[in-house]
Amino acid sequence: MKLLDGKLIAGQIKSEIATEVNENFLGKGLNPPHIAAMLVGDDPASKTYVSGKEKACREVGFLSSVYKYAANVSEEKLLEAVDFLNNDPEVDGFIVQLPLPEHINEQKITERIDPRKDIDGFHPVNIGKMVLELPCFIPATPYGIITLLDRYDIETEGKNCVVLGRSHIVGTPISILLSRKSKRGNATVTLCHSFTQDIASIASKADILIVAMGKQGFVTADMVKNGAVVVDVGIHRIPSEETKSGYILKGDVDFEKVSRKCSYITPVPGGVGLMTIVSLLQNGLKAAKKIIV
Ligand code: GUN
Repeated sequence: MKLLDGKLIAGQIKSEIATEVNENFLGKGLNPPHIAAMLVGDDPASKTYVSGKEKACREVGFLSSVYKYAANVSEEKLLEAVDFLNNDPEVDGFIVQLPLPEHINEQKITERIDPRKDIDGFHPVNIGKMVLELPCFIPATPYGIITLLDRYDIETEGKNCVVLGRSHIVGTPISILLSRKSKRGNATVTLCHSFTQDIASIASKADILIVAMGKQGFVTADMVKNGAVVVDVGIHRIPSEETKSGYILKGDVDFEKVSRKCSYITPVPGGVGLMTIVSLLQNGLKAAKKIIV
């Protein structure tokens, strides 16, 4: 078994981005790319993600801004904030960290983002362009998974790929990307969800298994084919007295047992999570270069 090392690949990509910032922006007297995040309320996971994004921006020489709002902020105020960032010429792209509080309509906020600044790729225009294989912002987690497969030269063409989970952020877009007529596409994809019957039997036939269910330890060794490639998108904080932080991170896959059966597997932490952040930086770079119009 080999690790699909998100830390290693994310590090390589960050250094490539840093070089590009130096040569093509600072070296030409241009401002570095500037990306922003809107953070509503104080969900600990959201705060962790946003501070991880800020740190990654610093590492590659991007400017970053975070706009923070109380959990009881009105939808109207958030829509105004989106308009402000849409019109701010200093900001190349931005995200609205999800989930938003219940009283806010996430779809309405997402649809207000200018698709040219939508570095999360969640706007219907970007989703539609992704389906049609047109240039667009690709959602960061699926983008990170495809990049990881690509950097390890894992063939997807003609392979049997099974995706567990159909979220708008991960499962649905990765199923589309893997089945598109493109490099690291051309796979036969099965998308499993809460109504799928006998997930274990479907998963056990996968050459490439992408797990994004949000259920800790859901995938056990009997659900994985010998030699399969396993990508674990899950991330769960488990209380632990053995760490300083008071928790350990676990994925949707029983890593210890599954790793003995497969050819490649992503660890948690150190796998997909770091690839998500670096993919957002890649989208930020595209936004700054005004490639997506
Ligand atoms: N919440 C969990 N993942 C994401 C993501 O990739 N982008 C945003 N905006 N919110 C998230």
